[in-house]
Amino acid sequence: MAVVAQLSPSSYTETTRLSSSQLSLSSTHLSSLRRRAFRPIIGPRNPTISCSVNQVQAPVAVEQDDPKSKTNDCYGVFCLTYDLKAEEETKSWKKMVNIAVSGAAGMIANHLLFKLAAGEVLGPDQPIALKLLGSERSLQALEGVAMELEDSLFPLLREVKIGINPYELFEDAEWALLIGAKPRGPGMERAGLLDINGQIFAEQGKALNAVASRNVKVIVVGNPCNTNALICLKNAPSIPAKNFHALTRLDENRAKCQLALKAGVFYDKVSNMTIWGNHSTTQVPDFLNARINGLPVKEIIKDHKWLEEGFTETIQKRGGLLIKKWGRSSAASTAVSIVDAMKSLVTPTPEGDWFSSGVYTNGNPYGIAEDIVFSMPCRSKGDGDYELVKDVIFDDYLRKRIAKV
Ligand code: LMR
Repeated sequence: MAVVAQLSPSSYTETTRLSSSQLSLSSTHLSSLRRRAFRPIIGPRNPTISCSVNQVQAPVAVEQDDPKSKTNDCYGVFCLTYDLKAEEETKSWKKMVNIAVSGAAGMIANHLLFKLAAGEVLGPDQPIALKLLGSERSLQALEGVAMELEDSLFPLLREVKIGINPYELFEDAEWALLIGAKPRGPGMERAGLLDINGQIFAEQGKALNAVASRNVKVIVVGNPCNTNALICLKNAPSIPAKNFHALTRLDENRAKCQLALKAGVFYDKVSNMTIWGNHSTTQVPDFLNARINGLPVKEIIKDHKWLEEGFTETIQKRGGLLIKKWGRSSAASTAVSIVDAMKSLVTPTPEGDWFSSGVYTNGNPYGIAEDIVFSMPCRSKGDGDYELVKDVIFDDYLRKRIAKV
């Protein structure tokens, strides 16, 4: 494999070729080389930084000490060009996947991006490009994110681009993880964010519609995520509505943990956990269909009053409680649940089990109103798509709660 660093301003050209063994053994040398060669500048007239491997145009080289030095669109190690195709052949890597992340300078993304780049989500043979969308205010912080990504030397991370224009950042996106939104503060309901966040998701839906892959999978995290997902999909008519998800996986994970705690088992024993409805304080964690060690929860946890009241309320209010404790909303566990949600779509669902996701309701078998985004039980063959689970049961309690949410 040849790794080529090309520095070619009109008056100056330097090409460095390294073998793959040199690449792994001489990262210090490589790092000092490119630090001498490149100097990132971000200014108001240059809001997008593209950090690319395999790029056709060589980056502009500048001397580090030149105060007027500028580079258009590349940052540090990502300015080096790699022969990705040759690497794909030798390492049997898959074709690179473009992942766009909004709110990329925020706390959730700060946990998520490093998991994505480490291959925790899409696997150790899947190179990725990260397209990080922030706001004008967060541009400096985004640069910090890019710096930490480069310092982490992730072999699978082949391209990083940061900026504030969704039409640039969402180009050819195969995944869009829409985290960026105003978070709620203490005492607020998530629905109180709709006015301000709804506009963001309308704009981002339009951008996805214009430039993303037609098969992009969109996971909406910014609250209120169900409504934002609906707004987003309505603004993206060229992308199948089925591809849009509102993140309720965090609620599913919370519910599994609380059931495990009550039953005195480790949480991997809890399965078939559905969250019905909105990621809101009326959501319905379904203990009727959930199982512990393969048995119905109600057979294991005899305290049915706790299930109906204590358990349900704990899950509904867990996010709010965390805000009280932390002084800000959940971040690490949200990032983990985004990882779980993505993995659920790219891995076949274990036989007999399912996962929860807020998805478009058209054609649902449960009698839930059409044309909304509502969390329901899903199964996947691991191809990025999903189907709704048909064999779930309902009782009066569950029906009433679902109607309410
Ligand atoms: C959560 O559930 O932790 C997040 O949706 C943040 C919030 O507002 O509760």
